Amino acid sequence: MKIDSLVIHGGISSDKITGAVNVPVYLSSTFKQPEFGVNLGYEYARTGNPTRESVEKLISDLEGGVRGFAFASGMAATSTVLNLFKSGDRILINNNLYGGTFRVIDKVFSNFGLKYDIVEDFNTFDFSTISEDVKGVFIETPTNPLLSITDIKRVAEEAKKRNLTVIVDNTFMTPYFQNPLSLGADIVVHSATKYLGGHSDVVAGLAVTNSTEIAERLAFLQNSIGAVLPPFDSYLLVRGIKTLSVRLDKHADNAQKIAEYLKAHEAIEEVFYPGLKDHPGHEIQKTQARGFGGVVSFKLKEGYDFKKFINSLELITFGESLGGIESLLCHPASMTHAALPVELRERIGIKDNLLRISVGIENFEDLRDEIEQAIINSKEEK
Ligand SMILES: Cc1ncc(COP(=O)(O)O)c(C=O)c1O
Repeated sequence: MKIDSLVIHGGISSDKITGAVNVPVYLSSTFKQPEFGVNLGYEYARTGNPTRESVEKLISDLEGGVRGFAFASGMAATSTVLNLFKSGDRILINNNLYGGTFRVIDKVFSNFGLKYDIVEDFNTFDFSTISEDVKGVFIETPTNPLLSITDIKRVAEEAKKRNLTVIVDNTFMTPYFQNPLSLGADIVVHSATKYLGGHSDVVAGLAVTNSTEIAERLAFLQNSIGAVLPPFDSYLLVRGIKTLSVRLDKHADNAQKIAEYLKAHEAIEEVFYPGLKDHPGHEIQKTQARGFGGVVSFKLKEGYDFKKFINSLELITFGESLGGIESLLCHPASMTHAALPVELRERIGIKDNLLRISVGIENFEDLRDEIEQAIINSKEEK
């Protein structure tokens, strides 16, 4: 099946018992065992619940893995996956990652002895220089919020030679546009709160692997740590995923137009969108993904006040998150990426004039007119 059929028919497409076309919300924390030593596939809902299983099987099919896991948030997915490492291990990470991912590595896992190195550019990085203690690579591509592109195949090939586990956060692309496992990654993680859920009504995380050995360890960690996705949220997530293809086509179409409009605008210093031909990652993106996604970041020129810009938005919601059907604008320096050290933020360009739009599926002209008005309103008087 092609991906636009798979989002609808992958996983478990109907309820085993009743034939209901939607797997019901099984609100049961435990399951009757008919006799000693026998169960019907489920024992206790932290370990497994049929509604959660439906989203786990679906994401596994979509990412081309052997097993999927659903968690209470993207951070719960990432944190559980990071537990594959042990004290004294070191991982390599992108220089711009979602702030919460950086925070959990820098401020939580470091307390348990996990070390990390920031790699400025994985596309040119010389892997022969890494130390013996490096055991894994954690990348986002495109990155949040600067939309830098990492060549997943290159990283995976270099990592394989050195026995490193490659983890890719595929939140921005979703399996509709990109399948990191087919490019050599070992594990994919998602903040399913974003495009997979798609309607800003559920917080969820997913992980998928194509290694049976890693799958066994993740199942153990998921059950041991217990940050699992509840049944109702699992149901909402399956419901969201079913329309992924139509939503993402529209998100990406609108985003391309917004990026081109901003690029040509005199008030804009820089636009970050991999769909622009002069984006440094454009060619790599074309080879490893089937689209450019729905997130566009941009910098206002001097003389335009970012607070006035934000305060004049009406149609576009000012708030954290991304990937919902409604357009959402955030100010990374004070919101999603506040957890990054100021020095790192400044160095990579997450400054006050940087804004990130998660372009929704509204009418493009309405969005463009709203941005145009916000730019006019943000112009400082001389
Ligand atoms: C790329 C990326 N990864 C992970 C996360 C964390 O996901 P959650 O908020 O669902 O915990 C986010 C959240 O913004 C994100 O943008």
